[in-house]
Amino acid sequence: MLDNKGFDLWADNYDKTVGISDNDNTYPFAGYKKILNEIYNCILKKSFKNILDIGFGTGTLTTKLYEKGFNIYGQDFSNKMVELAKNKMPNSELFKGDFSKGLVEGLKSQKYDSIIATYSLHHLTDKDKVKFIKELVGLLNENGVIYIGDVAFATRGDLEKCKEQCGEHWDNEEIYFVYDEIKEEFPNSEFIKYSACAGIIKIWKEDIEG
Ligand SMILES: C[S@@+](CC[C@H](N)C(=O)[O-])C[C@H]1O[C@@H](n2cnc3c(N)ncnc32)[C@H](O)[C@@H]1O
Repeated sequence: MLDNKGFDLWADNYDKTVGISDNDNTYPFAGYKKILNEIYNCILKKSFKNILDIGFGTGTLTTKLYEKGFNIYGQDFSNKMVELAKNKMPNSELFKGDFSKGLVEGLKSQKYDSIIATYSLHHLTDKDKVKFIKELVGLLNENGVIYIGDVAFATRGDLEKCKEQCGEHWDNEEIYFVYDEIKEEFPNSEFIKYSACAGIIKIWKEDIEG
C-alpha cells in the first residue's frame, strides 16, 4: 500500500497513469472519468455550497467544482498532492492529514452539503471505512450526500471474478468496497456500477434519494 511518500512520487504522473488505465478500460481505473463526471453532475444539479474531498489527489474533480464557485475543503496526506491541488484552487481549504487517524480538527467544525471520496478509501480496512464514513455522515447538512467513487463491487463474487481476470496485476494490498457487505450499516445508500471494477456508492443523510 502506498504511503504519503509514495503518493508524493506518483503525483506528477498520476493523471497520466489514470488516463491510460481508464482509456484502455482496464483495472484499476476503468470507469474513472465516467465516475468523476457523474459525481460532478449530481453535485451541479443541487443547490450545494460546501464540498469536502477526502484524498483529493491532484484535485481533478474538485477543481471543476471550485471553478463553478463551490467552497472546497479537503484532506490528503501527500505534501505533493496538497501543493498541486492548492495551486489549482488557491482559495480552497486544503489540509494535510492522514484520514486513517480521522479528520483534521480544521475540518470538523464545518458542515458539508456533499462529501466526496474518489479512489482513496480503499486504503482503510472495511471496519475503519465504516467507522470513518459514519463520522462523515455526521458532518453532512440536511439533504447532504456522500459520493464514494472507487474500485468497488456489488458482491464478493464480482470482486473475485475481477481478481481472477486481473491475475498478477491485482493489488492485494488495497481493500476494495463490497457494497453487499456494508449496506446494512448505511440504510440510505445505493451502489451504481460503472465498469467491471468500479462504481459509486451514494449515501444520504436523510431518507431522500440524492
Ligand atoms: C488514487 S489517489 C485519488 C486522488 C483523487 N481523489 C482522484 O480521484 O483522482 C488517492 C489519494 O488519497 C490520498 N490518500 C491515500 N491514503 C490516505 C490517507 N490515509 N490519508 C490521507 N490521504 C490519503 C493520496 O495521497 C492520494 O492523493
